[in-house]
Amino acid sequence: MKVLGIMGSPRMQGNTDLLLDEALKGAESRGAEAEKVLADKLAISPCKEYYACLKDGKCVIKDDMDSIYDKLLSADAIIIASPMFFYTVSAQLLTLISRCQALWARKYVLKTMDIPEKKGAFIAVGATRGEKLFDGPKLTVKYLFQAINTRYTDELLIRGIDKKGEIKDHPTALVDAYELGKRLATS
Ligand SMILES: Cc1cc2nc3c(=O)[nH]c(=O)nc-3n(C[C@H](O)[C@H](O)[C@H](O)COP(=O)(O)O)c2cc1C
Repeated sequence: MKVLGIMGSPRMQGNTDLLLDEALKGAESRGAEAEKVLADKLAISPCKEYYACLKDGKCVIKDDMDSIYDKLLSADAIIIASPMFFYTVSAQLLTLISRCQALWARKYVLKTMDIPEKKGAFIAVGATRGEKLFDGPKLTVKYLFQAINTRYTDELLIRGIDKKGEIKDHPTALVDAYELGKRLATS
C-alpha cells in the first residue's frame, strides 16, 4: 500500500511537518510504503483557467505539478497536512489543489477517472481555538478528495499550537498522528 503525505507548511520541522512524519511512520509500521511531498519546495503555478484540461484532462502548464498528478493518482491513501493560514490551508497547498482542476475535469467532465477508491485524511494545526477554525479547509480537502476518488476517512485537527515545534508539548497529538497513519494503512 502506498501512502502519500502532502506537507503544506513552509516551516520544515514545524508542527505540520512533525505531525505528518508521525502519521507516515504509523503507516509504515503497518507495512505501507510512505512518501512525503513538500509543497513549499515545489515550483507550482496556480490554475490559470486555460481550461485545456476540459479536452483531455491534462494541464497545459508545465512545472513541478507534472509529477504530483501521478503521485496523487497512484497512491492508495493520501494525507493532506497543513497549518491554518487565515482560516484555510496554506497558499502552497491551495495552489497545488487548484491545479487538480485537471483531475476534476477527468472525473466530472470527461468521465475518464477510472482509479479505485482511496482513503484520505486531513491533518491540520492552528494557533487559535475557535470552534469553526477547520470548517473552511475541511470543505476544500473534501472537495479535492472527491475529485480523485478519495474517501475522507480520518482527520486530526489541533488547536492552540503556534510556535515552531510546539506540537511536541501537546499531550496526545503526535501519538494521535501515528495512530491515524496506522488506521489509514489498515484496510
Ligand atoms: C500567515 C499566517 C496565517 C495564520 N493564520 C492563522 C489562522 O487563521 N488561524 C489560526 O488558528 N492560526 C493561524 N496561524 C498560526 C499557524 O497556523 C500556527 O502557527 C501553526 O502552528 C503553524 O504550523 P507550522 O509550524 O506547521 O507551520 C497563522 C500563521 C501564519 C504565519
